[in-house]
Amino acid sequence: MTVLVTGATGNVGRKVVESLLAAGVPVRATSRNPKTAGLPAGVDVHAGDLDDPGSFKDALSGVEKLFLFPNPSGIAEFLDLAKASGVRHVVLLSSAAVGAPDVTSHPIGLMHLSVEQAVERSGLARTVLRPGAFASNALQWAPAIRESGEVRIPYAESTLSPIHERDIAAVAVQALLTDGHEDATYELTGPESMTQRRQAELIGAATGRPVAVVDLVDGAARAQLELDYGGFGVPGLIDSVLGTYAASVGTAAPVTDTVARITGRAPTAFADWALEHRQAFTAA
Ligand SMILES: NC(=O)c1ccc[n+]([C@@H]2O[C@H](COP(=O)([O-])OP(=O)(O)OC[C@H]3O[C@@H](n4cnc5c(N)ncnc54)[C@H](OP(=O)(O)O)[C@@H]3O)[C@@H](O)[C@H]2O)c1
Repeated sequence: MTVLVTGATGNVGRKVVESLLAAGVPVRATSRNPKTAGLPAGVDVHAGDLDDPGSFKDALSGVEKLFLFPNPSGIAEFLDLAKASGVRHVVLLSSAAVGAPDVTSHPIGLMHLSVEQAVERSGLARTVLRPGAFASNALQWAPAIRESGEVRIPYAESTLSPIHERDIAAVAVQALLTDGHEDATYELTGPESMTQRRQAELIGAATGRPVAVVDLVDGAARAQLELDYGGFGVPGLIDSVLGTYAASVGTAAPVTDTVARITGRAPTAFADWALEHRQAFTAA
């Protein structure tokens, strides 16, 4: 049985590829730039651009199971092609934002919802993964922490339950390789709720150099988010992120037991993610 991993060069996709290889499963992977994908030996790497579903004709040949990166453009056409090629089961990387109570005013939630709905309409067996904030989002602080030991954080007291990308991949691999995950939707989180300030503290503990946090609220938070996300040009994105951050201050972020239930092992603590990635936060 060949498994195709799309988004194989991403934080999650790379870990899905590694785990499938370790399990001895034939892995095919796609990238828009296969020559520079840097995937391990033993992976059958093909070109594929989800914006251009026809580019997957070769990559889908002989594939039964698919790990799908959530790219909305061309999704219906891509799924038709996958079905016609013999794919039977799709494991979709979606987002916890789909479950937000105000999803209609949440551009990220709406985008992922549109992909989930397309997968549902395709009639293929599906497993939907809805992770919350990735631990790897903290890498956006790495240049500032390396250069000055200080990071400016919009709503530093806002809370999240950061999940290690390897734990998302581990659930994906279980869903791809074992029975009983068809038509399931899994809300995935890390093991504990914490503030963004606490994440920065744990990065400081991992590197041995304390991180100074500048807590930005209101207009200052908006200005920072404009710098971080303004370039994406997504209408309503900054308002929605600001609203989510502000609303979570003083509350505990949801924590699910899904990673442990599906994989049989506890999800990785953010402190351990920080230790693993401490080099990225350490000045040369
Ligand atoms: N960050 C979070 O907190 C969070 C939370 C919930 C859900 N998510 C979801 O997870 C995604 C990020 O996943 P990640 O961190 O694993 O990825 P990533 O590290 O951001 O890398 C992006 C991946 O998407 C692929 N890609 C982008 N456009 C593509 C296209 N048109 N056709 C084919 N592949 C394309 C890239 O492949 P190539 O460049 O090699 O072609 C690359 O592998 C987000 O976009 C979101 O949907 C994120």
